[in-house]
Amino acid sequence: MTDKEMVEAARRARLYAYSPYSGFRVGACLKAASGKIYCGCNVESVSFTPTCCAERTALFAAVAAGDREFESIAVACDGKKAVWPCGVCRQALVEFAPDLEVIVAAESGGWEKARLSELLPHAFKDYKENEVRDD
Ligand code: THU
Repeated sequence: MTDKEMVEAARRARLYAYSPYSGFRVGACLKAASGKIYCGCNVESVSFTPTCCAERTALFAAVAAGDREFESIAVACDGKKAVWPCGVCRQALVEFAPDLEVIVAAESGGWEKARLSELLPHAFKDYKENEVRDD
């Protein structure tokens, strides 16, 4: 799947967003190393906290389907200006794909790309080498 096709899929996924509180629709298209594609949209809640971004919706669907290695994610939002994944999504994605390619696009037009390692430098990852208390 090309970058263009990923962006188009993210734009289509955005149309399923449930975002009555923000009015802001976001779609994501995640490409697994297996070649499978997982799409997601943001799903909001009246109590706000349960809201899930498009990126995590796609990621969790992928993991639940058995994929754990990923190559790239495209994120497409409403409006003229692309948005980069929020901090929570960066942390969720780094768990599985520290060098993920991230593509962001607005409603129409082109896109920008960056590596997740650039977006989340010094990520919190493995603490198991630390001495941990067992009490
Ligand atoms: N949102 C996403 O789905 N992805 C992002 O990268 C940024 C924010 C959603 C969460 C919420 O439903 C709405 O956009 C406004 O924050």
